Amino acid sequence: MTRIHIRRDQSAGTISRYIYGNFSEHLGHCIYGGIFVGKDSDIPNVNGIRTDVVEAMKAIHMPVLRWPGGCFADEYHWRDGIGPQEQRRNMVNTNWGGVTEDNSFGTHEFMELCSQVGCEPYITGNVGSGTAQEMSEWVEYLNSDGDSTVVRERRANGRQDSWGVKYWGVGNESWGCGGIMRPEYYADVYRRYQNFCRKYGDNKLYKIACGPNGADTNWTDVVMKNAAFCMDGLSLHFYTVPGSWEHKNKATEFTKDDYIETLAIASRMDQLVTDHAAIMDKYDPDKRVGLIVDEWGTWFEVEPGTNPGFLYQQNTMRDAMVAAVTLDIFNRHCDRVYMANIAQTVNVLQAIILTEDGKMVLTPTYYVFDLYQHHMDAKELACEVEAATLGTEKFRVAGVTASASEKDGFVTVTLSNLDPEKADEVVISLPGAGEVTGRILQGKMDAYNDFGNSPLKTEAFSDFETRGDEIIVRMPACSVAELRVKI
Ligand code: AHR
Repeated sequence: MTRIHIRRDQSAGTISRYIYGNFSEHLGHCIYGGIFVGKDSDIPNVNGIRTDVVEAMKAIHMPVLRWPGGCFADEYHWRDGIGPQEQRRNMVNTNWGGVTEDNSFGTHEFMELCSQVGCEPYITGNVGSGTAQEMSEWVEYLNSDGDSTVVRERRANGRQDSWGVKYWGVGNESWGCGGIMRPEYYADVYRRYQNFCRKYGDNKLYKIACGPNGADTNWTDVVMKNAAFCMDGLSLHFYTVPGSWEHKNKATEFTKDDYIETLAIASRMDQLVTDHAAIMDKYDPDKRVGLIVDEWGTWFEVEPGTNPGFLYQQNTMRDAMVAAVTLDIFNRHCDRVYMANIAQTVNVLQAIILTEDGKMVLTPTYYVFDLYQHHMDAKELACEVEAATLGTEKFRVAGVTASASEKDGFVTVTLSNLDPEKADEVVISLPGAGEVTGRILQGKMDAYNDFGNSPLKTEAFSDFETRGDEIIVRMPACSVAELRVKI
């Protein structure tokens, strides 16, 4: 049995909607094929962008989308992706699969995608191989309504008014694929580049500095010490890689031990956020600078027969549990975590959507985002979980994860039973609990949705009862539920 205590008088603050963000890179079939098929495609599209994928993104109210990379961002020259399609420069995508990038999806196409989805754009500028002038002019192209050659160029390319992009990344993984920099050097480079990313009209950019790789607290310390004064956000990248980078797990064939190892690794996000937040507190006690976890998710072996550089992997209930564990952590740390972007939206790593030509599959991870929607912009409520643990000393994880929030007369509780074999009775104490409705996602730990056979989806859930201030929930093995409690 598990006990959960929800306290309506204790809160870490508001859960930013941007925690439910996504990341889409020019990598494999994320953009090309997955999102963008071109106007002449037989696949239903609006201005070249797949209608089925846009509808799926809209249904979960995706709040923000990060683009164009990733490692790709530091080799991307935005001018290659504007103007007449036939005149766009071709390049080889050296990071991802060595394929030709024809730049048919560029700035205008990305902004069109965000407009169709109704999400905020988050653009990462090129620091590694681009100049400060190039970055500065991209911001001007996007955001200025002044009379300049750059703005006239945008207008000649069909866009009269500025778009007003707010979220701006200054380089990606500058400690790695973005230039193998030391934090001391990057902090100075960041200061210089961000300086030329101007404010146009009322649109003050939210500037995001490259943050640490996983547990690298020294990076956070040095960059915060030297550049916190001119940043709004600091990124953090952390991937769940069970096994090792050389011998990664397969996405769909794994043991119970692999499953628990995976969830134990994903749970490390809690300590990472705690550790980096403590350093940020030193330089930014008012918590003005947001922690932006702009790459997170599982990283498994690619599916057999696919290009290793395309990072295409299936997505099982194990991925769904990773998403639940991670999103609960972000909710609980909403006093510092302002945005997060799962890697990646379509056909890459822990994708929420998979496509194959004209077909589309929504993954178990997608349905977790569906179940968590009501947390967006809600007041976080302290949610203490007393649960048995799973696993052994090496890889141990709490058997139940949960988070809670309040908004518009409802408390939303998301709870997951991580045990892959046993159901659990969960007793939730919530003073003032009224009528409860529920939805659930459940399946075997290695179950997944495939083209032509998609058994997993969110369903109505009612296996609970209310007794006074307690809700007693019977959670099936390997399940994620949302309860909406009238308050
Ligand atoms: O998401 C795939 C890659 O992982 C990104 O391009 C890079 O930033 C990270 O290493």
